[in-house]
Amino acid sequence: MRPLWIKHAVQLVTVAGDNSPRIREGMSDLGLIEDGSVWIEHGKIVAVGTTSELEALFAERSDEADVIDATGRLVTPGLVDPHTHVAYGGSREREFEMRLEGATYMEIMNTGGGIHATTRMTREATEDELVEQTTRRLDSFLAHGVTTVEGKSGYGLDLETELKQLRVMKRLNETHPIDLVATFMGGHAVPQTYKGREEEYIDVIVNDMLTRVSAEKLAVFNDVFCEVGVFTPEQSERILEAGKKYGLIPKIHADEIESYGGAELAAKVGAISAEHLLKASDEGIRLMAEAGVIACLLPATALFLREEAARGRAMIDAGVAVAISTDCNPGSSPTTSMSLVMNLACISMRLTPAETLVAATLNAACAIGMQERVGSLEVGKQGDIVMWNVSSYQELQYLFGVNHVGSVWKKGVKVVG
Ligand code: NIG
Ligand code: FE
Repeated sequence: MRPLWIKHAVQLVTVAGDNSPRIREGMSDLGLIEDGSVWIEHGKIVAVGTTSELEALFAERSDEADVIDATGRLVTPGLVDPHTHVAYGGSREREFEMRLEGATYMEIMNTGGGIHATTRMTREATEDELVEQTTRRLDSFLAHGVTTVEGKSGYGLDLETELKQLRVMKRLNETHPIDLVATFMGGHAVPQTYKGREEEYIDVIVNDMLTRVSAEKLAVFNDVFCEVGVFTPEQSERILEAGKKYGLIPKIHADEIESYGGAELAAKVGAISAEHLLKASDEGIRLMAEAGVIACLLPATALFLREEAARGRAMIDAGVAVAISTDCNPGSSPTTSMSLVMNLACISMRLTPAETLVAATLNAACAIGMQERVGSLEVGKQGDIVMWNVSSYQELQYLFGVNHVGSVWKKGVKVVG
């Protein structure tokens, strides 16, 4: 494999520094290098600096390398999407129409649509069909500059289908260029057949599903939808504490539709991240900052549900590390566009363009435990790089609603452009 040498980036965003989640002013530190250059060999970054610094090091080896002239272009780390439900069957465009006609998200779910509809379609799909459908979405992520993705189960809600979804992600992690990190989310909804017997379903999660998921090493994280009408904070805590016994790190869909103590619970159980947080309380935000829980904010979901976005600005000012994500799923955020999510982080949550990039790279990597390998351009990390058709990181966020991706490299191999 030939080395890759990118030269003359008008702005090279490295996000270099230590690999812990960035907070406060740290979220504005892009480690920006003007006329920047990066050399990648055997899939890993060997040197980062100005073009003249790297010319001094590699001038004699330039014939060996694929040299890319990034004059006039912004270059950043590959984006990281730390929260998706990417491995699902089917589609729900009819529900989109129903919501526009006045139905609410929870009404649709409570009458057998929503998560239940996707659960039926995911149960019916074969493993190969799910691989095929998920591949198309992962290809679209790559085309939007995303090189690492987290994906959740939770459209099985029975042992067999939960395992099927996780195996699909394992296969794709091995075969698709994207790094795909799996989260078990048996606690995504109470299956319709368990209505009124919620505790019995939680027994299934705790006694059957977690055992198998951990025995087959199919997931790193354990997530739960803590929401009025889904799982209470007490039930969510039981699921997350049980996961911890199997080495699964907690994550929580918290305070998405109603303020329900989800942020507080994230701090209490030591979750790596709490997701959504549209209705998180001031006290919940304070406790998250204190406990070091990363806020994973999903502004495209808020837009798609026509809800007010999470208070991203206030969270950063309160000392919470913020990451952003598409939440790619068939119901509340059917998108793979991290570009749009970055735009919305600025427009609807008042993050600055610099904070937004940190939220979509290093902090996102930290939210899925991938910060030693991806999320910044530093020696030893993977050569996951995006060259954008804009000349500054501010322009990337300002020219909104457009996919500015020029080329993408994953582990030093060109995958887009
Ligand atoms: O993160 N809120 C719960 N789960 C997903 C949506 C799932 C669906 O509607 O299919 C979310 O928004
Ligand atoms: Fe989600």
